[in-house]
Amino acid sequence: MNYPQSVRDAWHLVALSKDLACHRVRKTMCCDVPIALFRGKQGVGALVDRCPHRNYPLSEGRVHKGGLECPYHGWRFAGDGTCLEVPGCLVDTTRDDGLKASALRVVERHGGIFVTLSDTAPAEPPLPPDFGNPALDHFWWQQGCWTGRAFDAIENVMDPFHTNHLHHGFIRRRDKRLPVSLIVTSHGDGIEMAIEQTAPDLGMMSRFLERTRSRSVSRYYPPTTVQARWEGESSLTLCVTAIFTPVTEGSFMPFARFSTPSGTVPGWLKQAAIRLFLAPVVSQDRRALERQHEVMTHFGRPAFISGPGDILKTRLHRLWKGEALEPGSDPAVEVRL
Ligand code: FES
Ligand SMILES: [Fe+2]
Repeated sequence: MNYPQSVRDAWHLVALSKDLACHRVRKTMCCDVPIALFRGKQGVGALVDRCPHRNYPLSEGRVHKGGLECPYHGWRFAGDGTCLEVPGCLVDTTRDDGLKASALRVVERHGGIFVTLSDTAPAEPPLPPDFGNPALDHFWWQQGCWTGRAFDAIENVMDPFHTNHLHHGFIRRRDKRLPVSLIVTSHGDGIEMAIEQTAPDLGMMSRFLERTRSRSVSRYYPPTTVQARWEGESSLTLCVTAIFTPVTEGSFMPFARFSTPSGTVPGWLKQAAIRLFLAPVVSQDRRALERQHEVMTHFGRPAFISGPGDILKTRLHRLWKGEALEPGSDPAVEVRL
């Protein structure tokens, strides 16, 4: 359980609201901590998935009378961990802190359920710009649990050079590249890479989905969020917020939230088009992260070198570990993508 403190102390997205109906329980896991998520009439509760009585998994219980009931002896717990009842014993258990289950702070925002394992996390999960902007159409895309490290997925999203090669034909092309300027700006609490170009990418996605393109910006919001924004001549065309929740050290849940300006094209159609074009790209990334993880596991640990295209160098990793960067912009780098 070798997570940096910054990761343990963060808010993590563990499920989408639509995947937890009322009176339902759902097992999830974050940073190796199994969690029983449940929704009662009072809202969502998150308990460590271990009944304090005899350690039965609470996620196998049922939601009953406003609490989560353990299947073994029927102890029932509220969202704050209070033991509401020990069946058969006519005593008030709600005042006995010794009977409490371990409860996590949980909030539900914009269709996502966030938990934190830490007492020191801020009151609200920090969310990037436009995450809940009502002027935009939003939809979520979640694809289960992937093999690999959450950090490597973050690096993958922040790395433009793999898109020519791994996603040849879909995002960019490896045989035909466009001149672009890369501008990296460090912020104390994050880093962004802007890609300036005069024509859309040569892959299929841009050809079908974009008319013009002047700029795209990817920004890392440590520890687990990356937001990529594509801008046309005058306004935003697409914003994708990806959140990578560490499940174990070698697995993570990727959540993506797509936001587009509301307009004449109906939201469902945009959603269908984006899913259609991105599905092969997503499975290429999934496979790459899985294969990379297999090799690192075989050799016992990662051993990375950075080449001339890795202009973020160690900065992503420093942010992941909770370090601050010296704010400022690097000189623009001219490359071909
Ligand atoms: S183990 Fe849960 S009630 Fe006994
Ligand atoms: Fe990719």
